[in-house]
Amino acid sequence: MTGLIYLVGFMGAGKSFFGKKWSAELHKKFIDLDDYIEQKTNKTITSIFTLYGEQNFRAFETEMLKEVSENFKDAVIACGGGTACFNNNMQYMNNQGTTIYLKASANALYERLLRNQSQRPLLKDKNPSELLLYIKDKLIERNPFYTLAKYCVDTEENKALGINEIKPLNNA
Ligand code: S3P
Repeated sequence: MTGLIYLVGFMGAGKSFFGKKWSAELHKKFIDLDDYIEQKTNKTITSIFTLYGEQNFRAFETEMLKEVSENFKDAVIACGGGTACFNNNMQYMNNQGTTIYLKASANALYERLLRNQSQRPLLKDKNPSELLLYIKDKLIERNPFYTLAKYCVDTEENKALGINEIKPLNNA
């Protein structure tokens, strides 16, 4: 697979895990968009949300998505969970390279995110039942964006899936 590869999907879907694995398989650079934003601003994602609000974060996230896409032409980019859902970013990514949706059920995401809420501003103040409801609602809202991806991988079944085994979304 040549050029840029973008991994999209909900928080906890495994974008960083598969991004590291597949970039190594393909000998490409790995970029985590959240890490890139944190390095660029010298602030955590949580503090950016707190200081500037989600709307400003989304504008900056889009700007940084374009910056990394222009600067690194041969990389695997793990997006943030919301990157796909704002500012026509899916359209942009589909024009620039290959998009892969990492999919998991609300229940599987809930199990993973319960242990990892604190660094995620959208989740950190939710109790377990609020968290499950939030994941279910957001997945429904975000699915139309995620499913614009060219490929889809079910991350519940395919922990060891190699990049060459992924399937086009319509056949997934
Ligand atoms: C977000 C997901 C996060 C991060 C920010 C917002 C979202 O990335 O970009 O907290 O809106 O789903 P991860 O999916 O890497 O946790």
